Amino acid sequence: MTDHSEAIFDAIAAIAPDIRAALPGRRLAAGGENPSGEDQLAADVYADELLKEAIEAIDGVGIYVSEERTEAIDVGDGELSVAVDPLDGSSNLKSNNALGTIVGIYDEPLPASGRDLVAAGYVLYGPITTMIVAIGDTVTGYVVDDGDRTVSESDMELPSPPTIYSFGGRVPEWTDGFAAFADEIETELKLRYGGSMVGDVNQVLTYGGIFSYPALTTAPDGKLRLQFEANPMAYIIEAAGGASSDGVRSLLDREPDGVHDRTPVHLGNAELIDRLEAALR
Ligand code: AHG
Ligand code: MN
Ligand code: MN
Repeated sequence: MTDHSEAIFDAIAAIAPDIRAALPGRRLAAGGENPSGEDQLAADVYADELLKEAIEAIDGVGIYVSEERTEAIDVGDGELSVAVDPLDGSSNLKSNNALGTIVGIYDEPLPASGRDLVAAGYVLYGPITTMIVAIGDTVTGYVVDDGDRTVSESDMELPSPPTIYSFGGRVPEWTDGFAAFADEIETELKLRYGGSMVGDVNQVLTYGGIFSYPALTTAPDGKLRLQFEANPMAYIIEAAGGASSDGVRSLLDREPDGVHDRTPVHLGNAELIDRLEAALR
């Protein structure tokens, strides 16, 4: 299983430069909508095509799920299912801010529980291209250069004490419980919110803290998708010694109905997640 996961992450590192090189010419809307009803950029569609091609070429993979495709597709007879957010934070392309690619590798058909993840990772297209990979309870950081990934940090742990918070959603739409929690946190930590889950969660992994895209009064399930955003990021943060929650339980224990299910998302240092869950009770 680990060999297949490593092969998948090698393949994603290999195409990361192609995804990055494609961004300047694909900043405009492609005219379609993704299955979540959001406008698709040409870059979203292109990144998805590159990822599908790379992943279907790998033995051991059977199913491919993408934010940009309505249904799961058959890509071979392997045991693994790969769920991707080809371009996370793609609205940041217009403002030239951080973007990412998120990958979850499950050993069950999709939709699946986060407990069925065997590995998860992300690519961050920032000033440089970096990658975080979690397999089992080991988190490793890489610099991606010319399609090769080189270890930059081993056995990564969430720093403590935490220093940053990153809260999404519009403040007037926060629930009273989350707003009360935010009032406390704002007096303790520094605000870092960049509008791309990959960029923002990478800051939590780098500095310690909490990322939330909470349940909103206008959207009780929040905005982020469980299979290819919340679960993979929760797997990584929990492997780094942190915790995750949908407000009540670990995101990895949240039962999915469909591959595009949304969920409230809270990720970060365990003591902050405990306080968050207490504030929402
Ligand atoms: P995507 O571009 O894959 O749809 O993801 C965007 C998500 C996530 O990256 C980020 O945390 C969130 O949308 C930001 O939402 P707001 O623009 O509402 O802040
Ligand atoms: Mn996303
Ligand atoms: Mn996306």
